[in-house]
Amino acid sequence: MKRIAIFASGRGSNAKKIIDHFESHPTVEISLIVSNKSKAAVLSLADDRQIPKLVIERQQFYQTKVYLADLQNYKIDFIVLAGFLWLIPSYLVDHFPNKIVNIHPALLPKFGGKGMYGSKVHQAVWEAQEKESGITIHYVNEEYDEGAIVFQTKCTLDETDTPDSIAKKVLQLEHRYFPKVIEEILLK
Ligand code: GAR
Repeated sequence: MKRIAIFASGRGSNAKKIIDHFESHPTVEISLIVSNKSKAAVLSLADDRQIPKLVIERQQFYQTKVYLADLQNYKIDFIVLAGFLWLIPSYLVDHFPNKIVNIHPALLPKFGGKGMYGSKVHQAVWEAQEKESGITIHYVNEEYDEGAIVFQTKCTLDETDTPDSIAKKVLQLEHRYFPKVIEEILLK
């Protein structure tokens, strides 16, 4: 079994799709849900699905390796960032080389970097009057949104689009592709 930890800060709609996708999978298991927000909806989802959960705290995350020990106790092989907004510290990147992926709701390298997340990304895409947006799935390194790109796909935009409609189009792509791309990476 490949054991995945999903890190998420909020709503958890991608986490849900990933959990659904791998339910009863023969060789992949969602083994842990990690969040930096104790009230995140993704933690209720973990309870519903009876998946162990871990709430992490900033100082411990950046100044100690206690959570690395937790991940090791859960025998985690692979980490998926699904709407997780903290930078991953180098001790984790080093321990999981090319074994951490993130999803970003735009076509990197455009509209990425610190502070570019969620609705802020769609607002920036809209303000720039882009003709397309999309999703980027990439490996994680010590910089925000800069690891090697694994997968991108696009949606077209026109003048009737709004930040909200862009968000909806992009989220649909995320739900459709993220679980499959994770599976391809894990099984290759
Ligand atoms: C997703 O759209 C994801 O791409 C984005 O947060 C959302 C989480 O939604 N991540 C970033 O912006 C990272 N820079 P969800 O909680 O419903 O899965």
